[in-house]
Amino acid sequence: MTQVILDKIQKVYSGGDVAAVDDFSLEIPTGKLVAFLGPSGCGKTTTLKMIAGLIQPTTGRILFDGEDVLPIPAEKRGAVMVFQNYLLFPYMSVGDNVGFGLKMRGVNKRVITERVAEMLALVKLPDIAKRRPTQLSGGQQQRVALARALITEPRVLLLDEPLSNLDAHLRDEMRDLILSIQRDLAVTTVFVTHDQEEAVLLADQIALMFDGLLLQYASPAEFYQRPISERAARFFGGVNFIPARRDNGMVRTDIGDFHFAAQEGERAPSGAAVMTIRPEQIRLNDSAENNSVRGRIRERIYVGTYTRYKIALGAHEIEAIRSADLPGAIGVGDEVNVHFPADRIWVVPA
Ligand SMILES: Nc1ncnc2c1ncn2[C@@H]1O[C@H](COP(=O)(O)OP(=O)(O)OP(=O)(O)O)[C@@H](O)[C@H]1O
Ligand SMILES: [Mg+2]
Repeated sequence: MTQVILDKIQKVYSGGDVAAVDDFSLEIPTGKLVAFLGPSGCGKTTTLKMIAGLIQPTTGRILFDGEDVLPIPAEKRGAVMVFQNYLLFPYMSVGDNVGFGLKMRGVNKRVITERVAEMLALVKLPDIAKRRPTQLSGGQQQRVALARALITEPRVLLLDEPLSNLDAHLRDEMRDLILSIQRDLAVTTVFVTHDQEEAVLLADQIALMFDGLLLQYASPAEFYQRPISERAARFFGGVNFIPARRDNGMVRTDIGDFHFAAQEGERAPSGAAVMTIRPEQIRLNDSAENNSVRGRIRERIYVGTYTRYKIALGAHEIEAIRSADLPGAIGVGDEVNVHFPADRIWVVPA
């Protein structure tokens, strides 16, 4: 079990004029699963390869348990990377693929056979050691790649979009398998994805990246409750954004002024800002008078257990979600009381 620290790492590829990754610092706690999340090209794979030792940062330090690992070559570093396209050796059997890392270390054959069987059982693929990778489905190849990585008992496991080549059903199954193995072995893991939901389901901490920069590093819940910016909030499904000004404990907007319970971790500056609130935290037609404004229902989308409303508020439109169990039908064209609980309002810099 290993703690990983990235300390202001930067990568400028030769011939590249902008940094693929810049000023990137974070701590991956021992035994935890961290997701690198962000759109294509934001530097996720580049960062992973620097941790693995497959490429060197241009500047910055990488520490495993406090030790600078940059002088240590990839094969001795103990961080193994599982690639998106698996990269199994096609002419070797599954068993030889999985046992490869131990063979390179000169481990005795009988031990390798035992460990291969253990690993294939761990990824729930017993009895296929003799097959070739080409005789396996995509999901099975992914498991073999994972077994091949785990057999070396890595200090750090690096998974580059392990689920993106799988269909929806297999993806769920593989995600659960990765999570249970990660929890069982408590191996420090970085999981790369551009899927916000996947990151939320798997990760202890999420590193949200854009354009080579770390925008926010926080727990999944924090991304919903305390996004650092409108961009971060939108990436996590935020839809309600109203231009605002902070004024002590108040947020002033052109639809009204709202009390705002400043929250821990809050970084919004006073001055120009954006007020945001999640649709499920808005209350419609409750009895609250403060922090309430009148709005008109524009659209009503019934989703079974809840209903989603689009509501006109002055020149703005917001969305609110309401449980289907609540009494009192609300229909298109109705005027409603829209309540923003003070402790649910969140303010980010404009
Ligand atoms: N070997 C390379 N030489 C030059 N530029 C590179 C190289 N590899 C990646 N880049 C550039 O660095 C940036 C980050 O690439 P990277 O592969 O890390 O992104 P990513 O977040 O993994 O994207 P994706 O989700 O598409 O896999 C991109 O602009 C990419 O074009
Ligand atoms: Mg990538």
